[in-house]
Amino acid sequence: MIVGGGIAAYKALELIRLLRKADIAVRVILTRAGAEFVTPLSLSALSEDKVYQDLWSLTDEAEMGHIELSRSADLIVVAPATADLMAKAACGLADDLASTTLLATDTPVLMAPSMNVRMWTHPATQRNLAILLRDGVRVVGPDEGAMACGEFGPGRLAEPEVILAAVLAALKQDAKPLQGRRALVTAGPTIEPLDPVRVLTNRSSGRQGYAIAAALAKLGADVTLISGPTALAAPVGVMRVDVETARGMLEACESALPVDVAVLTAAVADWRPETVSTQKTKKSSAAPEPIRLVENPDILATLAAPVSSRPALVIGFAAETEQVEAYAKAKLARKGCDWIVANDVTAPGVMGGEENEVMVIDCAGVERWTRATKADVAMRLAQRIAQTLNAHT
Ligand code: CTP
Repeated sequence: MIVGGGIAAYKALELIRLLRKADIAVRVILTRAGAEFVTPLSLSALSEDKVYQDLWSLTDEAEMGHIELSRSADLIVVAPATADLMAKAACGLADDLASTTLLATDTPVLMAPSMNVRMWTHPATQRNLAILLRDGVRVVGPDEGAMACGEFGPGRLAEPEVILAAVLAALKQDAKPLQGRRALVTAGPTIEPLDPVRVLTNRSSGRQGYAIAAALAKLGADVTLISGPTALAAPVGVMRVDVETARGMLEACESALPVDVAVLTAAVADWRPETVSTQKTKKSSAAPEPIRLVENPDILATLAAPVSSRPALVIGFAAETEQVEAYAKAKLARKGCDWIVANDVTAPGVMGGEENEVMVIDCAGVERWTRATKADVAMRLAQRIAQTLNAHT
């Protein structure tokens, strides 16, 4: 929660008390102006946590930097949101801990404005408000009434009970934006048998796909994870279907339809041996027979085909070792899917590792995401999926 500098800052204390009573953990950032109205001691006592004030404080940064602060919350509440804080957030200014936190986050933000009526109705504030709303910021209040400055009109901070209700609604909505949605995720390698003991396969660990299944489930989706053999446990709340071959994976995908979104991360074998020996092939003195291969079905292209059972959103992955963007763009067009998430698997630590560095390509263009853990990439993707699905229905 960010407490700005306004006479209504005293109501922030009551709001924190109500939030704590509702069992919501609160971590406070107090602006310099805010500290003119309420003390860090009161805020700290009520929130039962340290109060953060200074962008440049070595101890604050060492304990929890502004990036971590902004990411650790499920919701950022700005109360009171002053004209100055709103203007900074609308313009993307970052010259103190509060504004830097707001700029460094993709966590949902709820602002409770409070200011003099003329400041509120000023075209600059109304312009900033419109920008913030367009950016997805939620706003509660302000109320109309007599103000501390002796004037009357809109500008009073919404009552703490009303802000609490808005917080609860935002948390509920944000926690499960994929409630009622069905998702299908493929992950891991496929294996194609040559004989009862030998297979053709690849090095996919399945980590990114499993992380995506977990993130979609966390956002409330009903997730079916269709997985080739991996060493990973099924994420909590996800229904896993184990398959081996590409054809088995396609069949399992088709049985999981209809879904709202399909995210196909599996490293599907493009080819399989034309014949599978029923007995173990023995080593003989003659030169080994070449293995003849036939093409496997393309699961992504099949699911993305324009038929009535097509998921609203079909997302493919492109693991490339060179010309990542060009190859990924070609794949987007060739497969008919809506987005391609592309990565360079030669980047250190990506293949089988904990981190990923991806670009998301859709018809609007290319978004380059900074390197992050596979879990963070998964959550960002799940949120993008939720936003897209919810924007269309
Ligand atoms: N894919 C699939 N079925 C296949 C091959 C690939 O569903 N038979 C999916 C993968 O799950 C991934 C996307 O298609 O989402 C791209 O996979 P990739 O192996 O990179 O693409 P290919 O079409 O095989 O292209 P290439 O191997 O030439 O790069």
